[in-house]
Amino acid sequence: MRLNKLLLLLTAFFLGAKVTLADVAEGEKLFNANCTSCHAINEKVVGPALKDVDKRHNEAWLIKWIKNSQAMVKSGDAEALKIYNEYNQSVMTAFPQFSDGQVKSILEYVKTGGAAPAQAGGGATAPTDGAAPTTGEGFYSQTMLIGLSIFAVILLFIIFILVNIRKVIERIYNEKFPEELDPEDFKLPWKQNKKSTRYKLFVKHPVVGTLAVGAIITLVLGLYGFDFANKKVGVQKGYAPVQPINYSHELHAGKYKINCQYCHSSADKSKQASIPSASTCMNCHMYVKAKEKYNGQVSPEIQKIYNAVGYDAEKGAYIEGYKQQPIKWVRIHNLPDHAYFNHAQHVKIGKVECQSCHGPIEKMKVVSQQRSLQMGWCINCHREAKVDVANNDYYEKLHKDLKASNKDFITVAQNGGLECAKCHY
Ligand code: HEC
Ligand code: HEC
Ligand code: HEC
Ligand code: HEC
Ligand code: HEC
Ligand code: HEC
Repeated sequence: MRLNKLLLLLTAFFLGAKVTLADVAEGEKLFNANCTSCHAINEKVVGPALKDVDKRHNEAWLIKWIKNSQAMVKSGDAEALKIYNEYNQSVMTAFPQFSDGQVKSILEYVKTGGAAPAQAGGGATAPTDGAAPTTGEGFYSQTMLIGLSIFAVILLFIIFILVNIRKVIERIYNEKFPEELDPEDFKLPWKQNKKSTRYKLFVKHPVVGTLAVGAIITLVLGLYGFDFANKKVGVQKGYAPVQPINYSHELHAGKYKINCQYCHSSADKSKQASIPSASTCMNCHMYVKAKEKYNGQVSPEIQKIYNAVGYDAEKGAYIEGYKQQPIKWVRIHNLPDHAYFNHAQHVKIGKVECQSCHGPIEKMKVVSQQRSLQMGWCINCHREAKVDVANNDYYEKLHKDLKASNKDFITVAQNGGLECAKCHY
């Protein structure tokens, strides 16, 4: 196959892959922000499980439905009436603000099964159990892998056909003009022309040629934002898995201004910030049921907390002998095992704000990873951040030394914050 075609194909493939990735990612965001209060992909919540919904209705119908289901019900659409009646005529919120493209991206996301990255992550109720390190990869690498495999098979098939065509031509030529045959004639034109760049690159210096192609592919991938290092360690900026309960930081930490450490209570005491247990949620949710929003019913999301701890909201009492089940939160931030990070060191001693590393969590409906968490990121901050020696008991001795040398502060780096062993086991 001609090289330029191959590159064109490759480019087209990654462009295609990138577009679907973007779509699905957008779909996931929209779904999490707008639909999870009533829908899950694999289970019935207030509305039906959305798995295979694209097989139950065609796309045009779905777009119309999601934009305004009531309009369809009122127009007497048979499919719409059926599902509306099946769900006791509950009214689904209308989303007229969505473009067709946005609805399609949601449907694209629903098709991926949604829970795939979440379930792969496994349960991490208390992050101390070090949840599976694979959570960062999710469907990204999966679709990439499937796409690449399909691409490789197609490529092999094309090569197979081309080789065969060449053999047939060679045979016919051999039979018709046996004496005129010159093996040189069978070489591709650019292989005959010893002056051509391609001849020099790929026949005379194949290593240089291969490296050049490699460099171009890397460049193309790089341009499409394929982050090799991130893929390798499984840390991913923007990773925002679907959580088992549609818990919102925007609501709790933002609107109700609950202190971060009310829930992440060990952030200033230990290595882990920790994820609160369901009983912390029950401190409030024993009373807060958000019934007004659900026609007097307990919010289905809050019901999930009750299911975890075994609380009967009707009777207002814990169910006796109930086997409590931890809520399986999916871990988002995850350093590789060889790196050591300590929250207390940063929160208590370093006085670094949560937001410097996690972004504006109090504005997030769904938490997503905001920083790469790569080594360069840690180092960059250590080069600049100042150790606040003046107001820190921890540094009393250090402070005296500094006073003696007429300095007010030192950077973390100057205090040994770039030493390999500080961050690596
Ligand atoms: C307030 C709750 C609520 C919200 C929010 C909601 N839905 Fe629904 N949805 C329902 C209910 C209830 C039904 C069942 C039909 C009915 O009663 O109208 C339904 C039905 C559907 C159906 C038809 C399913 C089937 O099996 O035929 C689709 C598709 C759907 N919803 C998609 C969405 C999407 C996408 C979003 C987010 C953009 C969303 N819904 C947000 C409550 C909701
Ligand atoms: C009412 C309890 C509560 C409060 C208050 C709260 N969080 Fe959380 N936080 C949670 C729960 C539950 C999760 C796990 C589910 C999720 O990711 O949304 C979580 C997850 C996180 C994560 C992601 C953890 C991971 O898996 O990597 C970060 C980071 C975080 N919170 C930071 C904050 C910050 C910063 C604040 C204050 C601005 C805050 N939280 C306030 C309960 C809380
Ligand atoms: C300090 C009190 C407090 C704590 C602790 C708390 N919440 Fe809430 N939560 C609230 C309030 C207040 C609301 C708003 C209720 C409303 O909209 O009527 C709320 C709303 C919610 C909702 C939205 C309900 C809905 O359907 O609109 C969910 C889900 C939720 N909380 C989950 C949790 C989880 C999970 C935890 C534990 C990690 C938790 N909450 C801890 C006070 C709290
Ligand atoms: C200097 C940067 C930094 C600061 C400041 C910081 N974190 Fe983290 N946080 C991280 C890193 C890095 C991880 C991943 C740790 C790992 O995988 O071992 C993480 C993980 C988490 C997790 C996941 C579970 C766990 O316990 O490790 C939560 C929750 C969390 N942070 C909450 C907070 C809260 C709340 C604050 C503020 C009180 C805070 N973080 C301050 C960098 C930071
Ligand atoms: C936003 C700035 C910031 C980021 C990002 C950051 N750190 Fe730090 N780090 C600090 C500060 C400030 C201190 C000083 C605390 C102290 O006085 O010991 C510190 C101290 C440390 C120390 C102790 C150093 C010593 O000399 O005792 C270690 C280990 C460390 N950080 C690891 C990490 C790792 C691993 C990461 C990345 C995952 C990271 N830090 C990211 C600000 C940061
Ligand atoms: C401030 C903390 C910090 C310091 C100091 C630090 N590292 Fe790292 N290093 C990390 C973190 C966090 C990771 C994991 C994230 C990543 O791979 O980028 C890492 C990853 C690595 C990796 C694996 C890279 C990969 O792609 O998997 C190597 C190798 C490494 N560090 C070597 C070193 C050496 C050698 C030094 C001393 C010169 C050093 N580190 C100092 C934080 C640090």
